[in-house]
Amino acid sequence: MSARPKIATAPAAKGKPVTLSTLAERKALGEPIAMVTAYDYPSSQVAEEAGVDMVLVGASAAMTVLGYPSTVPITLDEMLMLTAAVRRGLQTPMLVGDLPFGSYEVSDEQAVTTAQRFVKEAGCDAVKLERGGSSVDRAGAIVAAGIPVMGHVGLTPQTATALGGYRSQGRTAERALEVCEDALALQDAGCFAIVFEAIPSGVSEALMPRIGIPVIGIGAGPATDGQVLVFHDLLGIREGLGARFVKRYADLQDEMTAGVAAYAEDVRTGRYPEPRHGYSIDAEQLAAFREQL
Ligand code: KIV
Repeated sequence: MSARPKIATAPAAKGKPVTLSTLAERKALGEPIAMVTAYDYPSSQVAEEAGVDMVLVGASAAMTVLGYPSTVPITLDEMLMLTAAVRRGLQTPMLVGDLPFGSYEVSDEQAVTTAQRFVKEAGCDAVKLERGGSSVDRAGAIVAAGIPVMGHVGLTPQTATALGGYRSQGRTAERALEVCEDALALQDAGCFAIVFEAIPSGVSEALMPRIGIPVIGIGAGPATDGQVLVFHDLLGIREGLGARFVKRYADLQDEMTAGVAAYAEDVRTGRYPEPRHGYSIDAEQLAAFREQL
């Protein structure tokens, strides 16, 4: 198997749901897959309108929308609530729910029960889990229960402390081989796709011919079958530039702050509300009301 050249594709056809076969076909044809995260109803509507192929409700929600310092503290119930909101705004892209830290590692039974909740309660098409090792068995168990699973190797934020922090992975031959082993094991366990996060572009390029399922990269170079970015990073809805792989397409935080500041200034100076922002009452009714007061 060798990596095919990429062919530019049109946005996902609105209303025609992206399926596992759509993704496999995209890979076979060398048509890049566009995935983005979303965490609520408005962001999922944006993803739908923008025509992306896949939407991930990532555990990054912990940091982007809930203000936790890492992805670790977010609970299963918090993830399910956010994911259900995203579901309500989507028709076309495939919806993938990220199993949060502590919700799948203990046993196959725990992993299947959690994955089933993402499907039944939040309407997910698939789930994602992080790491190789014991996660490979968990992935296999969820797949055996009939739920499509996406793997995630390289930098796995839920266990970033054990990896030495939020840093790129696979930068020595030995560590690159570990990434390779994890990816192949997840593929063998039945995953329909894998995320490669923060690994050298050359390592991805070398691995791609060995992976038969779609690989979605984030900081893994251009050789992967698709890319994913965090919604708030690409739209600039958070402070700082973020990781080196982030490309900013807008600066919405600045725009939102300017909008709210202008509103507050209008309130303070009496420029808001104007007469057109109020409701009217018949003059006679108002006079009667005043009289009876
Ligand atoms: O949590 C997340 O958003 C992710 C993506 C960055 C792949 O895992």
